[in-house]
Amino acid sequence: MADDLVLGIDIGGSGIKAALADLSTGQLATARKRLKTPQPATPEAVAQTVRELLRDEELRGAHIAGAGFPAVIKSGVARTAANVDKKWIGTNVAALLAEATGMPTYVGNDADVAGLAEIRYGAGKDVQGVVLMLTLGTGIGSAIFHDLILLPNTELGHLELDGKDAERTAAASVKDRKKLSWKKYAKRLDAYLDLVERALWPDLIILGGGISKEPDKFVPRLHTRAPVVAASMGNNAGIVGAALYAAECDGLKGYQIRPVANGKIPAW
Ligand code: BGC
Repeated sequence: MADDLVLGIDIGGSGIKAALADLSTGQLATARKRLKTPQPATPEAVAQTVRELLRDEELRGAHIAGAGFPAVIKSGVARTAANVDKKWIGTNVAALLAEATGMPTYVGNDADVAGLAEIRYGAGKDVQGVVLMLTLGTGIGSAIFHDLILLPNTELGHLELDGKDAERTAAASVKDRKKLSWKKYAKRLDAYLDLVERALWPDLIILGGGISKEPDKFVPRLHTRAPVVAASMGNNAGIVGAALYAAECDGLKGYQIRPVANGKIPAW
């Protein structure tokens, strides 16, 4: 069992995906396994789905696991539940999943972990300064990095835009639901990015989520100060990023980038 192989789990509204990630390359080391997210997606039902995924022996070939979850996560505990079952609030997701995977498991916000994958291996590889990653999907997730170090749980999707939660106006799901043209959607996204840029002044903006596969449709219509690029890790960002998150939290040799104080790895 190579140390560089870490189990990554991506928990989303429609699917739960898992694979071993090879952190020395940022690639998947096994095929990606996926099961539908149970409905209702209660903590116990999701844990059961993770147990089912782990019946696959290949996925058990790691020492530690990481998972990305769509909520604010403080020291493994979910503190919000914008687009997931409210039962998650207060749940120790890390403890629940450690029991389900049978290995130490670290849990971070889904956008934070996807951002980690992009900044180490993808569209933001080794970019210094302030890098902002936004995931445009059912909601809007955000991850901010300064000199490659993550500032966790920024939740910029919940800024107020036109009197509403921004993700209700500018998430990719709104484009689908309201059947907006690319032009109309880009206008909303532009207004949202303007709001974010007024507060943050990023040096680079990375846009992820399904629509990042068609950047030509909307990126040229944006008027940001910072350059905008599409995420490049595609469907693997959630899994690889979750694995990397676990490696950073666990102090895995070669992957610990935050300064260790008094022999202790700071909690995220
Ligand atoms: C949640 C975030 C999450 C984002 C993307 C938002 O509604 O509040 O925690 O990162 O959706 O899933």
